[in-house]
Amino acid sequence: MRIVDIIEKKRDGEELNREQIETLILGYVKGQVPDYQVAAFLMAVVFRGMTDRETAILTDVMMHSGDTVDLSSLPGIKVDKHSTGGVGDTTTLIVAPLVAACGGTVAKMSGRGLGHTGGTLDKLESIPGVNIEQPLDRFMDIVRRINLAVIGQSGNLVPADKKLYAMRDVTATIGSTPLIASSIMSKKLAAGADAIVLDVKVGSGAFMHTVEDAKKLASLMVRIGDHLGRRCEAIITDMNQPLGLAVGNALEVQEAVNVLSGLVPEEEPLVQVSLLLGAHMLLLCNLVSTEEEGKEKLLQALRSGAGLEKLRQMIAALGGDPAYIDAERIKELCRVRRLVEVYPLQDGFLAGLEAEKIGIASQMLGAGRAKKEDTIDPAVGLIMHRRVGDRLSIGEPFCTLYVNDETHLEEAVALLHESMTISSEKPAPAPLVYAIVKE
Ligand code: URA
Ligand code: CA
Repeated sequence: MRIVDIIEKKRDGEELNREQIETLILGYVKGQVPDYQVAAFLMAVVFRGMTDRETAILTDVMMHSGDTVDLSSLPGIKVDKHSTGGVGDTTTLIVAPLVAACGGTVAKMSGRGLGHTGGTLDKLESIPGVNIEQPLDRFMDIVRRINLAVIGQSGNLVPADKKLYAMRDVTATIGSTPLIASSIMSKKLAAGADAIVLDVKVGSGAFMHTVEDAKKLASLMVRIGDHLGRRCEAIITDMNQPLGLAVGNALEVQEAVNVLSGLVPEEEPLVQVSLLLGAHMLLLCNLVSTEEEGKEKLLQALRSGAGLEKLRQMIAALGGDPAYIDAERIKELCRVRRLVEVYPLQDGFLAGLEAEKIGIASQMLGAGRAKKEDTIDPAVGLIMHRRVGDRLSIGEPFCTLYVNDETHLEEAVALLHESMTISSEKPAPAPLVYAIVKE
């Protein structure tokens, strides 16, 4: 079948078979199918969608477009977690060590931040000495020794997604449930875990803006995982405001270290979401039999300092200086030229925040990249002092900016003001967790 006929079929809303999807995707990876045909195909998918079967085939074809990781020589059930992307979302650096401290085996490949969302690799690299590019055998050795490794995706993992994602980014075709699901799941499945807990974010700082859309994406990803023989669950969590209070790289590592040092109240959203994700990871590993038991076990690992010690071991294994995994020492990594307090423009209640704008403000200070080639400044970013529902007073800062380069400082402050909705009445509390999706 010619490529143009495959595009036409999708344009007319018909279902493609495996051979057709392979012809298109593998042809693209090999450079035999030109960008413009793939662009047309992607736009047809945005408008016509894909059946579950097509999405599962697309995921499978993408997953096998390059290397896949075989973790079967490691003992036990290997578990991974994945967030669809948010702001101030430091859960990996909290959950992964806690789950490992509870006996889970966490072998995880993470990504970098792009645009307004943060990425675990950039956060890890803010610790001097850390090398996230580890050869596969070394990655397996670390997991075998300490139950835990978080590293960068190896070079030839899912090349189809690298090309498709770059194409989607510039053709307004990111926002499609089957395309997002296949992009995420192909990478998770290729990285080899037996069990995967997905944190699907919903709200102003997420790809999915409604709970209904987030549920559809979550359910689709869980079914693809199940279909391809992995144990999967998804948790739909709020991203209408940053999850933690810190947004940045060293600042978010500091927040994770503070959580693991017991310095952050257990009721805080970042801690609550971490415990929930971790409990489901332990459940999928058969290490506990209820969510409550999982949370209790994780809390013990937190309170005893076992989670902090795991993070320290992992940083050392990645070549980093473990002395920084300490609530006092980590402050050294957050030193900047200037701290700038941002004050609200009127009194009232904080009725809403736009997490995306807060992420962009942090990016403008140098904490994130606008383009893939940009370098980031690990120390900069911001710390929020108020959450939605809190009272605001013009005399009290709602945010502190950590600044080295002041080029975009004024714009960042303006964006922070724009991100806020201030009301004279206290808003009704919004949920932190919307649903748990098991199939
Ligand atoms: N994250 C991904 O890896 N892919 C998408 O398409 C969206 C978010
Ligand atoms: Ca399931």
